[in-house]
Amino acid sequence: MSRSYITTPIYYVNDKPHIGHAYTSLAADVLARWKRLEGHEVFFLMGTDEHGQKVEKAAQDAGLDPQAFTDKVSQSFRELATVMGFSNDDFIRTTEPRHKAACQALWTELAKRDEIYLGHYEGWYAVRDEAFYGLDELTERDGVKYAPSGAPVAWVKEPSYFFRLGKWLPELLRRYDLPAGHPERIDIAPESRRNEVIAFIKQGIKDFGADSPKLDLSISRTSFTWGVKVPGDEAHVMYVWLDALTNYITAAGYPDANAERWKFWPADIHFVGKDIVRFHTIYWPAFLLAAGIPAAKRVFAHGWWTNEGQKISKSLGNVIDPLALVEEYGLDPVRYFLLREVPFGQDGDFSRAALARRLNGELADALGNLANRTLSLIQRNCEGKLPAVAEVAEADAALFAGLNALVGEVAGQLNAQGFHLALEAVMAAVRDANGYITVQAPWALKKTDLVRMNAVLRHLHTAIRAYATVLQPFMPGTMAALLDQLAVPEDQRGFAALATPLPEGTALPPPAPLFRKIEVA
Ligand code: MSP
Repeated sequence: MSRSYITTPIYYVNDKPHIGHAYTSLAADVLARWKRLEGHEVFFLMGTDEHGQKVEKAAQDAGLDPQAFTDKVSQSFRELATVMGFSNDDFIRTTEPRHKAACQALWTELAKRDEIYLGHYEGWYAVRDEAFYGLDELTERDGVKYAPSGAPVAWVKEPSYFFRLGKWLPELLRRYDLPAGHPERIDIAPESRRNEVIAFIKQGIKDFGADSPKLDLSISRTSFTWGVKVPGDEAHVMYVWLDALTNYITAAGYPDANAERWKFWPADIHFVGKDIVRFHTIYWPAFLLAAGIPAAKRVFAHGWWTNEGQKISKSLGNVIDPLALVEEYGLDPVRYFLLREVPFGQDGDFSRAALARRLNGELADALGNLANRTLSLIQRNCEGKLPAVAEVAEADAALFAGLNALVGEVAGQLNAQGFHLALEAVMAAVRDANGYITVQAPWALKKTDLVRMNAVLRHLHTAIRAYATVLQPFMPGTMAALLDQLAVPEDQRGFAALATPLPEGTALPPPAPLFRKIEVA
C-alpha cells in the first residue's frame, strides 16, 4: 500500500492561534484526506513548538511558569484542530518526553559523527524569529537594529556548540537539482522559493568558500534554560530550531528504527509558510544527512494573508481569529474560501467581499442550486427514487467528458499543491452541469418525454455524486451531507467506487439546502 507522511509546522505557543496557523494545517489536511480516499496509508502530523526564549518570555509576561503556560496555550491549538475539522493522526508537543529523547539521540548521533563542535558565538539574534542575522542584513531605527523580518535584534555573546553546516551545502545543492522522482532529490516548491534557497546558499559559499566554519550554525544557548538540555553539557540547551525540526522524526518513532511508524519516514511533504523555508530546506536536511538519516522529499511554502489589504499584526489589531470566522460563516465555507481564493504559494488578501462572492456565487448558487434542483426534481417527479442508468446521448457528451477526467485532474493538481486549481477544475465542471440542466430543462420534460427526463436526472445524479466525492477533502461535513442526500452509502465514497453506479430505484431522502447565502454589506 502506498504511504504518505504529511506535516504542518509546529506552532509557537507564545500566542493564540490565528489565520496563518489554520491555513497551513488546512492545506495539509486536504491533502491527507485526499490521499486516504486514494487508499494511501496516511500519517498526518501537527503539533506545538514549546521551547525557546520566545516562549519563555511569553510565559513570564503571562506570569506563569513555562510548563503551565505551554500546557494552556498548546490546548488552544488542539481546539483549533478540532474546530477546523483537521484529521491529524498525532499531535506532538516538544515538551513531551518522547521528543526530548529524540532530540538528545539526534544530538548524540551528530556528536558521534563529529558534526558538532564547541566554540563561541557572537552575533545579532532576534528572539521573535529565534534566528541569527548578519550585520549586512540589519537596518537601524532610533538606535535599535532590526532583522529583515522587522524583529529587533540584540548582540549575543556566549559559548555555543556549532553544527558543521557549511560542509553540507554543496550536497544540498546537488540534491535540489536531481531529477524528479530520484530518491535523493529534495524538492522545494514553488519554483520561486527553490530559486531563493539556491541563491542564498550559493551566495554563502561565494562569500566564505564551501567548508568555511563561518557557514556553520550555532545550535546551543546558555543564556536561558527553557529547552532540551545538551547531552553531557547541561549548561546548554539546544537551539530551538534544531529541537523543533526534530519533531518530524520524533513522531515517526526516532530513534527506534523498529517503531511501527518509522516506515513513514522520510516525510513526503512538509507544508510551511514562506518565512520558514530556510529552516526546512537547509538546516533540516543538513541535520538529517549529517546524522545518516534520509531527508524529507518535499517542502512546499505557501504565501501570507493580508486582511482587507493590510499586513496582519497584533499592533494593528487586525489579527484574524479562525474560530470567529467559523462561527460566523460555518466551517466548510471557510475551508473552501481559504484554499479557493488565493493561488497556494502566493500572498493573498482576506476580505469579506471576496468571501461573500465565493460563497454566494460558487457554493450557494452554482453547487448548492445544482444539487437542490436535481434532487428536488427526483423527489417530485420520480417519487424520490433514482432513475435507471441511461445511455449517454450526444447531448450528454459534454457533461461526461469533463467528469471522467475529473478525479485524475484534481489528483494532479493536489500532488502539485495547486489547491485553487483543483477547486477551479471542480467548479468548471459544476458550471458545465448548470449549463446542461438549463438546456435540458428536465422540469419541462415531465410533460413531453418522461424517458428523457429520467435519463437527464440520472446523469445529473451521477455528475453531482462525482463532484461531492472529490470535494470531500475540502468540505468534509457538507459533502457528507450531500452524499447522504444522494443516497451514496458510506463505504462507497472513495474514488474507486465512482465506477459502480447506484442501483435503479435507490430511495433518496428529501433534499435540504447545503449552503446559505451571506448578506453583502
Ligand atoms: N514554530 C515555528 C515552526 C517550527 S516547524 C518545525 C513557527 N511557528 S509559528 O507559530 O510562528 O507559525 C507559523 C506558521 O504560520 C508559519 O508557517 C507561517 O508562515 C504561518 N503564518 C503566520 N502568519 C501568517 C499569515 N499572515 N498568513 C499565512 N500564514 C502565516 O514558525
